[in-house]
Amino acid sequence: MVERNDSADNGPVAFLGDASMRIAVVGCGYVGLVTAACLAELGHEVVGVDDDTHKITLLSKGQIPIFESHLAELVAGNVKRGRLKFTRDIVPASQQAEVIFICVGTPPLENGEADLSAIDKVARAVANNCQTYKVVVEKSTVPVRTGHELERILRVYGARSGFTYDVVSNPEFLREGTAVEDFLHPDRIVIGAQSEKARAMLEELYRPILEQTFKCPVHRNCVERPKPRFLATDIASAELIKHASNSFLALKISYVNALADLCETFGADVTMVAEGMGADRRIGHAFLRPGIGFGGFCFPKDLQAFIRIAERGGHDFALLREAEKINLGRIDHFVEKLRSALWVIADKQIAVLGLSFKPNTDDIRFSPALAVVSRLLEHKAKVRVYDPKAMEKTKQAFPQLTYCRDAYEAASGSEALLLTTEWEDFRTLDWARIRESMGRALVLDGRNFLDAKELAALGFEYHSIGRPKLP
Ligand code: UDX
Repeated sequence: MVERNDSADNGPVAFLGDASMRIAVVGCGYVGLVTAACLAELGHEVVGVDDDTHKITLLSKGQIPIFESHLAELVAGNVKRGRLKFTRDIVPASQQAEVIFICVGTPPLENGEADLSAIDKVARAVANNCQTYKVVVEKSTVPVRTGHELERILRVYGARSGFTYDVVSNPEFLREGTAVEDFLHPDRIVIGAQSEKARAMLEELYRPILEQTFKCPVHRNCVERPKPRFLATDIASAELIKHASNSFLALKISYVNALADLCETFGADVTMVAEGMGADRRIGHAFLRPGIGFGGFCFPKDLQAFIRIAERGGHDFALLREAEKINLGRIDHFVEKLRSALWVIADKQIAVLGLSFKPNTDDIRFSPALAVVSRLLEHKAKVRVYDPKAMEKTKQAFPQLTYCRDAYEAASGSEALLLTTEWEDFRTLDWARIRESMGRALVLDGRNFLDAKELAALGFEYHSIGRPKLP
């Protein structure tokens, strides 16, 4: 791979030359859009496909419908360079592509299993309309054995036209907020394939990432980047790696949350316990932050789906059921802390800071912060909220809340302030000003994020998770 100077904008970009591939990415949600934009950035010719006309119109103009760090620049830049296009029509997009990434949604059904109808639809459309060889890649999070079913659908529907293909499982490990960075600098790239040809094609497609030879649009000048591991597996193992990883991380969070409760009972400090545990390299510090639990569109849904997958195979994955139960219990535990501090919650004005499921995103799906808000409403509290990015989305789900311009307005006159999402902005608030304006100087920090000593020194009654109350 060589680099060229793209005079159109933004300095040098990666150039794959003859190694560039024609790619279709079906489904332009978080995963699809990040995949499409990053592959275009590496120099591939990418077409994003989505049913949503409004979304396609927006994307074709180089605009994005979601908030995700660095994504807007990548989409705009590559649309402008002509390497990234968008369409509603899957037929020409898949006919022209060498590699087709399936990134459509697999939302949970009522029983917790993943709804795979969108994948089935894409597979039929591809098989019905393609005649030449394609590598069909499942990137959406799917139950193990989905690749097997996908292969069957492609075979059955493609039989008439003599369509040839290979199925690959290439799970994504993108976190919202850092998805572009995670895509370009992953720990590992997992390719589950049956055919050597398909595996080699995907290895070639990811070559700039595997070698870390592209011009990084995130860090601009970074040079010393660890190369990711390339893991070639069978399809079922690749599918399992995704569920197993997410569930293990969820397990870690539930473990530290259960420990936090123990620390509260025995007067210990969970921060110190987690620090001591994490210092062991076999355990590590990551995902040991206690709080009001994990949320978002991945962990809760994937954990449930994995439990159902195991059940279908005749296994009771009780360990994961317990992790889920602990997570659901976090909200009750937190609201009970508030009830015990206030005695009565009803009719009291409560400020809630943070609505998204984690900082640096406007995503409120399965947000623990909103679960807390719901519980406060059940208790008949008057809830005032503020979030740097997630207010608009929350308004649609909770029109009855008071939406404030900033944290100060939310705190003003409140009997308690709950910190539910750890946005960096909240750390540097003028807490003396907040103390002056509140009806009662009571803070419940659901993410152990604020400076406990500073708040106590200012005269706040400060509660957190798994640590002694101050003062
Ligand atoms: C996750 C996985 O990390 C990613 O690999 C996968 O592809 C999609 O799901 P994401 O949902 O974006 O990514 O968020 P993540 O940063 O992993 O956090 C998930 C939830 O766990 C958040 O609600 C977060 O607040 C919570 N969390 C995380 C904790 O409560 N404690 C921790 O120590 C870490």
